[in-house]
Amino acid sequence: MNRLVVVSNRVPTPGGGAQAGGLAVALAGLMEQRGGVWFGWSGDISNDHSVKSHQDGNVQYATIDLSQSEHDRYYNEFSNSTLWPLLHSMPELMSFDRRNASVYRAVNERMASSLAPLLRPNDMLWIHDYHLMAMPAMLRARGVTAPIGFFLHIPFPSPDMLASVPEAGALIRDLVAADLIGFQTQNDVENFAEAAHRLAGATRLTGGWLHVDGRRVRLGAFPVEIEAREFAATAEHAWRAAPTERLRRSLQGQKLVLGVDRLDPTKGLIQRLSGYRRLLETRPDWRRRVTFLQIAAESRKDVSAYRVLREAVDREAGAINSEWSEPDWTPLRIVARAGARSTMAGYMREARVGLVTPLRDGMNLVAKEYIAAQDPQDPGVLILSRFAGAAKQLGSALIVNPHDADELADALDTALRMSLSERQERWLSCWRAIEGATPVVWGRTFLATLLRVGSGAPANTVSGPKVVPEVVRQRNVFPG
Ligand code: F6P
Repeated sequence: MNRLVVVSNRVPTPGGGAQAGGLAVALAGLMEQRGGVWFGWSGDISNDHSVKSHQDGNVQYATIDLSQSEHDRYYNEFSNSTLWPLLHSMPELMSFDRRNASVYRAVNERMASSLAPLLRPNDMLWIHDYHLMAMPAMLRARGVTAPIGFFLHIPFPSPDMLASVPEAGALIRDLVAADLIGFQTQNDVENFAEAAHRLAGATRLTGGWLHVDGRRVRLGAFPVEIEAREFAATAEHAWRAAPTERLRRSLQGQKLVLGVDRLDPTKGLIQRLSGYRRLLETRPDWRRRVTFLQIAAESRKDVSAYRVLREAVDREAGAINSEWSEPDWTPLRIVARAGARSTMAGYMREARVGLVTPLRDGMNLVAKEYIAAQDPQDPGVLILSRFAGAAKQLGSALIVNPHDADELADALDTALRMSLSERQERWLSCWRAIEGATPVVWGRTFLATLLRVGSGAPANTVSGPKVVPEVVRQRNVFPG
């Protein structure tokens, strides 16, 4: 069996605490089961250029530190203030500076040159996410011939949007040095194929292939999955445990509306609060009968857009509470810390409504977790943004436009009033969409495809591999 080498900016090193989000949830089980090398940033800032290696079970964690200026320009600036808003189609939040782009390239170069000596002849490489888009070409330039797969966890925008960043063409040309490039949805695949055509001169072939620079690259949609059955069991258990018990008591019979997100401009938190405000304004019936709990786990605090957002969310939350609270009722509770994943599972099962309304999201695993957490006999209702990748699979949720406060208020009202039979029907259809899949199956499907395309198999022999679901251990991590 080929040794698997996973490369990602964040590496969930054992004992490193809650840090790595959706990416770690998706990959941890696969790595535990299959073993291999997990390479990336240590999470530490220093001028030390050495590779630190640490074996835990059958996984070797190999990491490098970043210097302060690398962290600022590569992570805070180019990755999170240029690429993140660009790829989420939010150009109004984007800033661009050539110096940041060149430090991004330099960090990708350093990652490639630190990793190359660790590789063995039978390795297969799987690079993750927008921080490392230049790495495939940089590894090839160092003579690496192993199959290289790349997976983008966040959306890919239209080529017109992409063109607003001068560096975009170079990044696409670097990326197509991979053998397989995976996305969350077919829409992302289409956008990428068109961008590769316009910016890298690629020609589209049938069967998901691109022809570029005299070679073929395979594209595909691989929607990230959760361990639904295991999450359901966790939620059932957590629902009876102390944290959910305390929350339930504090509600005094009110219906719970729940949001669980990282505090991120893409998550539509301000718009969500406006929707809730509109509900309270236009449907006085719900006052005193509902509580909205928003977990908004603070993240990327060094990036100014995130600090500005925190202030705006606090202001809007304060305004809602001062306007609508009564001495013995508070309509909104907001918590800016991440909680244990199992605690969130219990809260999700308690919530009559799960509010997942990002302005744009690659997938959004919280939407899938909310479905998995429900009691099949008495399920809650998922309100889901049409701009989340998950909406492609969870079409029986109440699908909304997150920008429209009236639509959000209508959906909240509908969800809170929904009959048991309709709740059961909608929930069952969503559950069926996620129950069979697991992150391990997702990972194996990607890797099996990579092995076929990376070993030169013709396009028409690439088909879905046979995979066996297996149970994955869950970790406490930030919501994606
Ligand atoms: O969705 C992209 C992603 O990298 C996720 O894996 C993770 O949930 C989140 O962003 C974490 O971001 P960061 O590493 O910047 O804290």
